[in-house]
Amino acid sequence: MVTARAHTNIALLKYWGKKDINLILPYNDSISLTLDHFYTDTSVEFDPSLKTDEILVDQQPSAGSGAKRVKRVLNLIRKLGDSTMFASVHSTNHVPSTAGLASSASAFAALASAGAKAAGLNLSERELSILARHGSGSASRSIFGGFVQWHAGHDDQSSYAQPIQRNVDWDINLITVLVDTSQKKISSTNGMQSVVETSPFYPAWVKSAQADVKPMQTAILNRNLATLGELAEQNAMRMHATTFGAVPSFTYFQPQTLAILTAVRNMRKQGVECYSTVDAGPNVKIICASSDNELIMHKLSKIVHQDQLLVCKPGPGITYL
Ligand code: PMV
Repeated sequence: MVTARAHTNIALLKYWGKKDINLILPYNDSISLTLDHFYTDTSVEFDPSLKTDEILVDQQPSAGSGAKRVKRVLNLIRKLGDSTMFASVHSTNHVPSTAGLASSASAFAALASAGAKAAGLNLSERELSILARHGSGSASRSIFGGFVQWHAGHDDQSSYAQPIQRNVDWDINLITVLVDTSQKKISSTNGMQSVVETSPFYPAWVKSAQADVKPMQTAILNRNLATLGELAEQNAMRMHATTFGAVPSFTYFQPQTLAILTAVRNMRKQGVECYSTVDAGPNVKIICASSDNELIMHKLSKIVHQDQLLVCKPGPGITYL
């Protein structure tokens, strides 16, 4: 039995749309920061006595599309290892249970790493990234710590993540503002498929996201929080603009999401360096230096409760327990 730990990541330039649904190939490169706070531990054991894969997530049997994706990754591992054995998979998410941040990124990165090792495969980080991608696109990035780029690529082997800066030796952190922790109504898979097929803004999104890749790499390497934050905030707003243009139109924003986005802009006007990003949900992540955490949290206390706030720092890549 092998147990692996993977951390979640937050995209600064987002993956938003598949050009190949089966292989999970994205339209554009994405860039993320792996976080320290939230992680998944997954144990995998291939067992000749099993008649089917046994999948437990947080002690509960997994079914539906989640289980299907786990089986997809296990099937790829079996193919690579030339094996027909079924596996037992135990996965525990160490995400505050109310956080609404349960991430497929850490789950599938941990599954790919534990599963490959349990099958006796000695895969490189790149191969693990490709394997994790088949569970969930953003999982390709959670193999690595720090700042990571997922190269869109054009086929299975050319679509993988790579570190930009593994050890983040400068002051950047993320304040997560929990707006709503219930399960979202439109999954990221369905949301992105809808914008690809119906939003006239989608081509503009792909063009602008891809154009921001080089400037974002440069901002990271220059430890330039202002440029990084501006690019990330613009990118997130453009991603959400595609949803307004979809048919039927939809949004992940809630009234409090907009209130927080406005508060961040106002703080910036007052000279506080902080920037927002929002994934396929209503929660806002504020990018800032840790030296400004207290000030920002104090200013936010007018519109949110303290227990809606969680501070995350850069986190590590895969580890085996
Ligand atoms: O990996 P998925 O299928 O959960 O999609 C993630 C999509 C976003 O979180 C919105 C953006 C990203 O790059 O993580």
